[in-house]
Amino acid sequence: MPKIHVSLHVNGKPVDKLVEPRTLLIHLLRDELRLTGPHIGCETSHCGACTVDIDGKSVKSCTVFAAQVNGGDIKTIEGIAAADGTLHPLQEAFREHHGLQCGFCTPGMITRAYRLLQENPNPTEAEIRMGIAGNLCRCTGYQNIVKAIKSAAEVMAGGEAREAAE
Ligand code: FES
Ligand code: FES
Repeated sequence: MPKIHVSLHVNGKPVDKLVEPRTLLIHLLRDELRLTGPHIGCETSHCGACTVDIDGKSVKSCTVFAAQVNGGDIKTIEGIAAADGTLHPLQEAFREHHGLQCGFCTPGMITRAYRLLQENPNPTEAEIRMGIAGNLCRCTGYQNIVKAIKSAAEVMAGGEAREAAE
């Protein structure tokens, strides 16, 4: 099967690869680019462990072929922290509020929460629960995940208010 050329931006860096037409995005990320933050839980679009951000939308990367996102701008959990390594408020909040146990769901959960807070910077608890409905966690019972996302939203809103006042 002839390979297809795909050209993407991943976490701000240009990537050019030859892939088989059947290559899923999650496999390109993990196997070729060694971005192993996005996890494979089900490969059937149920668990959300593979969630990444593509052109401003949360996408389960096991559900798309790499060739379909040619030209796309992709962010994975590896691109959520600042370039100097400073954790994103969501990452800090998950740590502070114990929003993880085994951590398997966490990269997808935080990447989804990152987009959720772009879509809705001040979500209610119900909106957070609805917003992460596509991401399953078998450990935490979700309470601390919701608390962490709420707390990160407040920290981010505080930062924006400070920037506006300066
Ligand atoms: S591995 Fe993609 S949704 Fe489960
Ligand atoms: S922390 Fe274990 S699956 Fe979510």
